[in-house]
Amino acid sequence: MMKATHRATFGGQLGAVLVTAGSAVGLGNIWRFPYVAGENGGAAFLLIYVLSVLLIGVPIMLAEFAIGRHTHSNAVGAYRMLSGHWTALGYNSVIAPLLIMGFYLVVSGWTMEYMIHSLTGEFTRVQTVEEYAAIFSTFTQNPWRPAIYTVIFTLLTHGVIALGVQKGIERSSRIMMPLLMVILVVLAIHSILLPGGMQGVKFLFTPDFSKVTASTFLTALGQAFFSLSIGLGCLVTYASYFKDDTNITHTALQVVLIDTLVAVLAGVVIFPAVFSVGIEPTAGPSLVFVTLPAIFNTLPLSMVWSTIFFLLLVIAALTSTISLHEVLTAYIHEEWHLSRRISAWIVTAACSLLGVAASLSLGAWKWLQIGGKSLFDLLDFVTANVLLPAGGFFICIFAGWVLDRRFMPHELTNKGTIPLRLWPLLRLLLRWVCPALLLLIFLDNLGLI
Ligand code: PHE
Repeated sequence: MMKATHRATFGGQLGAVLVTAGSAVGLGNIWRFPYVAGENGGAAFLLIYVLSVLLIGVPIMLAEFAIGRHTHSNAVGAYRMLSGHWTALGYNSVIAPLLIMGFYLVVSGWTMEYMIHSLTGEFTRVQTVEEYAAIFSTFTQNPWRPAIYTVIFTLLTHGVIALGVQKGIERSSRIMMPLLMVILVVLAIHSILLPGGMQGVKFLFTPDFSKVTASTFLTALGQAFFSLSIGLGCLVTYASYFKDDTNITHTALQVVLIDTLVAVLAGVVIFPAVFSVGIEPTAGPSLVFVTLPAIFNTLPLSMVWSTIFFLLLVIAALTSTISLHEVLTAYIHEEWHLSRRISAWIVTAACSLLGVAASLSLGAWKWLQIGGKSLFDLLDFVTANVLLPAGGFFICIFAGWVLDRRFMPHELTNKGTIPLRLWPLLRLLLRWVCPALLLLIFLDNLGLI
């Protein structure tokens, strides 16, 4: 077994938690969760979401941590090391991040552009929600502006990756994650105090089960997947930098807690604001880019709140794009035997090209469609609906059925040195419950049930 000996590691337990939470907390929590919850009945959705996180998120996260930490290798190397027949799962784990980067960097670029517009006070001149909607569509369809922001965001990500695992990834998470939490709490308090704001809080915490349908369960499951960064190589790669005495069960529980807390807090920021100005909470994906700036504009100091809010989105997106970039950089560095510097540049070039193409597919390159979907939508669809659930399903099969049955308990207990009481339950979830539920999402997403 070829174990890389000179690999970097994260400082310790806290570092492990912060970098992983950095990957998990992202646009999925602050942009996607509130609008999906808004469309699916608020509190009832939240409840089902939390169940999905506990039943599926935690077991898969633990399996990925165990695989990464045991092999101390990039995602492809990790699966190959454990079983030559399962290298394909490693390739799925590096292809998915590249494709996610294709559209995620575009939305990240938008958040940056919106932050700058808020800062320069440009939004204060705009009056109605319709005007904001027009600005949003003109901006996303502009031939060069979003493309430039996509590249700038990729370069920003590159800058962190270039500084290395400890000085770049870990240090940036140690700064950005606490900052993100502070901003979120300040914004949440500000929102609750708005006149009429409590109505939004009620919406988020009083379940209305009449809105729950079969698809709510599947949407919640899919959201949990994307939000926790599971089903692809991010957690395997990050865990490969964990120290051998890192308690991976505690790390997973803390990350899941932070990720869920951030999603809930994002709801607490957004719904009271939405209710205070009497807008429907079901605005969909444009909630953050159209409805919210319009709401901020009605408030005193709108420029400040809106700048801080988009800064929050930029930070959340950046810690996630870093984790996606690292999967690819570690893979190229270790598997193609190129220097880390060159590997990072290859990834940056590839992601920029794909991101720019995806961005242009929304406007100037309208012809760039495959199967009736723009490249941007296609990348989103293929990753969230096909590659991640498929990856998650096979990870369960691999960890639950293929690997030696002592592998998981051995890793989770750090070779028997720490206790693990819930192993029988975890084993049941990993072998039966998770694969069955994932199969369900998968078939549903393909329209087969
Ligand atoms: N979890 C991130 C978010 O919620 C997105 C992401 C998915 C990041 C997969 C890495 C891997 O925005």
